[in-house]
Amino acid sequence: MKLLAIVGTNADFSYNRFLEQFMARRYQDQAEIEVYEIADLPPFKKEAQPDSKVEEFKNKIREADGVIFATPEYDHGIPSSLKSAMEWTGSHAQGNANVMKMKPAMVLGTSYGIQGASRAQEEMREILLSPDQSANVLPGNEVLIGHAADKFDKNTGDLLDQETIHAIDLAFSNFVKFVEQTQK
Ligand SMILES: Cc1cc2nc3c(=O)[nH]c(=O)nc-3n(C[C@H](O)[C@H](O)[C@H](O)COP(=O)(O)O)c2cc1C
Repeated sequence: MKLLAIVGTNADFSYNRFLEQFMARRYQDQAEIEVYEIADLPPFKKEAQPDSKVEEFKNKIREADGVIFATPEYDHGIPSSLKSAMEWTGSHAQGNANVMKMKPAMVLGTSYGIQGASRAQEEMREILLSPDQSANVLPGNEVLIGHAADKFDKNTGDLLDQETIHAIDLAFSNFVKFVEQTQK
């Protein structure tokens, strides 16, 4: 199974990147997880000329059996860089739109405070369910990881909190089953 893990930020330092890198390592026996950076994508513009980075991004999604999004929370929503990336996937402006259509998608996230990016994750799910995305979003299985700085090792990126690891294990195994079911 091939999964694309999209880092929901263009930040150089990101706990959400740590989270996806951790998942790629931990679940390597279950899936081939590629951690994908949105930092090099141009900001979305409706009338833009075809762009090789955008095409590469869409192709990665097209070729994946499922997509994982780990999003930080900015002002009770997702970062603008992630919103912009999603506008590229949903837009008809460059042809081959709707690469997310019926694509199995899993959302999780981590933030500095107690909320665990809850509002950003909710917004991300809403975006994925919008008509031009129409993704097949894994229901339930919310993983809200608060206090990121206490749960990850800042130097190695390892996730240290056992309760959080258990919650991610459960959600990920449900996502694998969800992807397999959609492939039948
Ligand atoms: C512009 C900005 C807005 C933020 N707004 C929120 C917020 O509304 N709620 C929240 O819990 N954290 C907020 N934070 C802090 C985030 O928890 C934190 O930057 C981010 O989620 C951690 O993810 P990262 O390490 O992957 O960047 C904000 C941070 C920035 C830079």
